[in-house]
Amino acid sequence: MCGIVGYIGKRKAFPIILEGLKRLEYRGYDSAGIALYDDSDIKLSKTKGKVADLEAKAKNEINTDGTIGIGHTRWATHGVPNDVNSHPHYSNSGDLVIIHNGIIENYDSLKKELLKRGYIFKSDTDTEVLINLIEDVKINEKVKLGKAVQIALNQVVGAYAIAVFDKNKPNEIVVAKLGSPLAIGIGDEEFFIASDASPFLEYTKKAIYLEDEEMAVISRKKGVKLRRIKNDAVVDPYIQELKINLEQIEKGGYEHFMLKEIHEQPNAIKDTYRGRLLAKEGIVKMAGVDDNLERFLNANKIIIVACGTSWHAGLVAEYVFENLAKVPVEVEYASEFRYRNPVITDKDVVIAISQSGETADTLAAIKLAKSKNAFVFGVCNVVGSTISRETHAGAYTHAGPEIGVASTKAFTTQITVLTLIALKLAKEKGTISNSEFHLYLQELELIPEKVKKALKSEKHIKTVANTYKNAKNCLYLGRGYNFPVALEGALKLKEISYIHAEGYPAAEMKHGPIALIDEQMPVFVIATKKGHYEKVVSNIQEIKSRSGKIIGIVTEGDEDVKNLADHVIEVPETIEFLTPLLTTIPMQLLSYHIAVMLNKNVDQPRNLAKSVTVE
Ligand code: AGP
Repeated sequence: MCGIVGYIGKRKAFPIILEGLKRLEYRGYDSAGIALYDDSDIKLSKTKGKVADLEAKAKNEINTDGTIGIGHTRWATHGVPNDVNSHPHYSNSGDLVIIHNGIIENYDSLKKELLKRGYIFKSDTDTEVLINLIEDVKINEKVKLGKAVQIALNQVVGAYAIAVFDKNKPNEIVVAKLGSPLAIGIGDEEFFIASDASPFLEYTKKAIYLEDEEMAVISRKKGVKLRRIKNDAVVDPYIQELKINLEQIEKGGYEHFMLKEIHEQPNAIKDTYRGRLLAKEGIVKMAGVDDNLERFLNANKIIIVACGTSWHAGLVAEYVFENLAKVPVEVEYASEFRYRNPVITDKDVVIAISQSGETADTLAAIKLAKSKNAFVFGVCNVVGSTISRETHAGAYTHAGPEIGVASTKAFTTQITVLTLIALKLAKEKGTISNSEFHLYLQELELIPEKVKKALKSEKHIKTVANTYKNAKNCLYLGRGYNFPVALEGALKLKEISYIHAEGYPAAEMKHGPIALIDEQMPVFVIATKKGHYEKVVSNIQEIKSRSGKIIGIVTEGDEDVKNLADHVIEVPETIEFLTPLLTTIPMQLLSYHIAVMLNKNVDQPRNLAKSVTVE
C-alpha cells in the first residue's frame, strides 16, 4: 500500500521520481505527490488521481530542476483521497517534508499532544502527525534530523517506510522502516529510495534492503549510514546485486500487465521448478525443505496462512498435501489466525504464502506462529521481501515481477512450489509408490506445454466473455482440487470487472445458492474428467433444469458436458491434482476480457493495491 520514491545525486530528481512512481503505481493510485528542493526551499505538488495527473500539474506548479526530492503514490488509509491528504506533507514550519507508507496506529494520542503544544494540522493523515512529531523533537531536543527521526519513531506504534528531508540540510535524506518495505539503490555519487527496486533498476543494480527497525541517513558526501532505531547500534550495510532487469517489469507489447502475466505462466512455472524437479533422476531438490526435512516429516500438522489468491493456492495445497503426503493440513486466513489464539505447537509446520512477501496480516500470523515455536516456512515471489526474511526457511516461486493487481502467475507458481514440496514429502514418507512419484514428476514437467495449449483458447474465451459481460452476478462451481479454482475464478471477476461473483463447492449449491439460479445467471462449472466428474455433471443437470446458463471448463474431447452446456472451454488432460494449473487459465482470461470489454482499469482496479501492508 502506497509507493515511495526518493532521489539524491547529480541528476534532476523530477523525472527519476516521476518514472519511479509510475512503476510503483500498482501499490496505490488514488493520489500522488512530489517534493523537490529548489535551491532555497522545498516545493510540493500533489493531487488526487494518478501519477499522470501529477506529472501534468507539477510541471506547471514547481521548479523541476532540483537534485533532491521525494515522491509518493497513495492508497488511502487515514483521510479520503484528495489533494490535501496526498503526500508529501510539510511540518508546521515548512522546513521538513515526509512521505510515508504504512499506518501510525497511535497517531490520535500523538496528535492530541501536538495540538496542545500549538501544532496545527491541514490534513486528516497520520503522516502529518509524524512529521510534526519529528519537528517537535528536533526543536525541543536540539538534535539533527536523523536523531529527531529516531527519537520520534521510538514513540510510534504502527508500520512505516518513510523518507524525510530538511530544507536547511538539502544534502541528506533520512529513511526508516518497520513493517513496510524500503530499498536504497546505490549509484555513483547518487542514491535512490523506493518501495521496491523497480524505480532505480536502470541506474543501478546495487541495493540495500532495510530491515525492520532500521534507519539510514543518506548523504551526498558520506553515503549511507545505517543504525538500529531502538538501540542506536550502527549496522554494516549489506549491499545486494539485483538479478532482475528492466524488461521484466515492462509490458512487452501486451495491452496490460495482467495479460502479459497470464501469458508468462508457461515460462513462470518452468522457472519455478527449474533445478528442483529432476524428472529423469526422480528427485525433487529444494534447499529450504531438504535442510529442514525432519521438521516437515515429523510435523503433527501443517498450517497454511495466507490472504486472497495466495489463500486459494493454500487451499489447493491442502488437498495435495493430504492426498499425497497424508499429513493433516489447516488453511487459515492470516487475518483471522493472528487474532484467534490458535492452537500451535513446536511440532507444527506453518507455511506462509505471499506473492509480495509484505502482506501485513500474513506477517503478523508468522510472528504469532514463531512466538509459539512452530517452524515457519515461506513461499514468496518477491526476493528479499520481509516475509522471506522473517521465516525460518522458504522457497521462492521465481515467477518474476507480478505487477497487475490481480494475481495470476503468482497463483500457478505457488501451486507448483507447494506440489513439489508435497511430492517430496510423499516420497520420503512412502505414502506414494516410486512409480507414482516418477509419473507425477514427469506429468508436472509437461504442465508448461499444457498451459500453453490452454492459452490458445483465448479467442474462443473472448466470445464467451462477450456473451456474459453484462451479467450482474455469476456463480463459479468446482469440486475437490478445483473448488479453490472456483473461488479464485470468482475473485478474479470481482476484483477487475466489479461483477458480483461467488465460488462454491459444486455440491453445496443445493444447500442455498441454487435459489439464485435463473436464466440471467451464468454458472461457470469446472468439470474435468478426473475427479467427481459424474457428480459435477449431475450438478450441471440441476442448473440446466432451472434455466441457468452453463459454461463448462472441460477436458479436451469431452462430449457429455458439451451436450448440456451453453458453452464449453477445453483444457488439456492431466492427472487430477495438477488440473488447477490448467483450469485456472480460462478463469483468468474470462475475467480479463470481460473487464477490458467493460472498460475497467484492469491493472489498477478501484480500491485495491498490489501489496496490502496494512491490516
Ligand atoms: C489477488 O488477485 C489479490 N490481488 C489479493 O487477493 C492478493 O492475493 C492478496 O492481497 C495477498 O497478497 P500476497 O500474495 O502478496 O500476500
